[in-house]
Amino acid sequence: MTEENQETVSEQTQPQSTEQTTEKKYKLEHNRPDCIGCAACAAVAPDFWTMDEDGKSDIVGCKKRDDGWEELDIDEKNYAENRDAADSCPVNVIHITDKKTGEKII
Ligand code: F3S
Repeated sequence: MTEENQETVSEQTQPQSTEQTTEKKYKLEHNRPDCIGCAACAAVAPDFWTMDEDGKSDIVGCKKRDDGWEELDIDEKNYAENRDAADSCPVNVIHITDKKTGEKII
């Protein structure tokens, strides 16, 4: 009976699927000091990027860091849109990091 119980417990503690769409898997970062205000990001991903009065963009709902950068954790379903924004930026000031592996994707 004890062995049965252990089996049950071990089944329950199996790692969960990696396809959890609600998990904030990526960190989106904006090197705002180096942003030249091209506005491609806001055109490509308007749900996440907006243009400010000073001519630079902001990540909507982001945390502003002391170094002037902005960051926001995003989940899998928002990756593609923000990847497009990063790809569209001519001065490469938008970055995405896989939080689990630490890999800098762009
Ligand atoms: Fe700035 Fe690049 Fe967007 S320069 S406004 S982050 S496309």
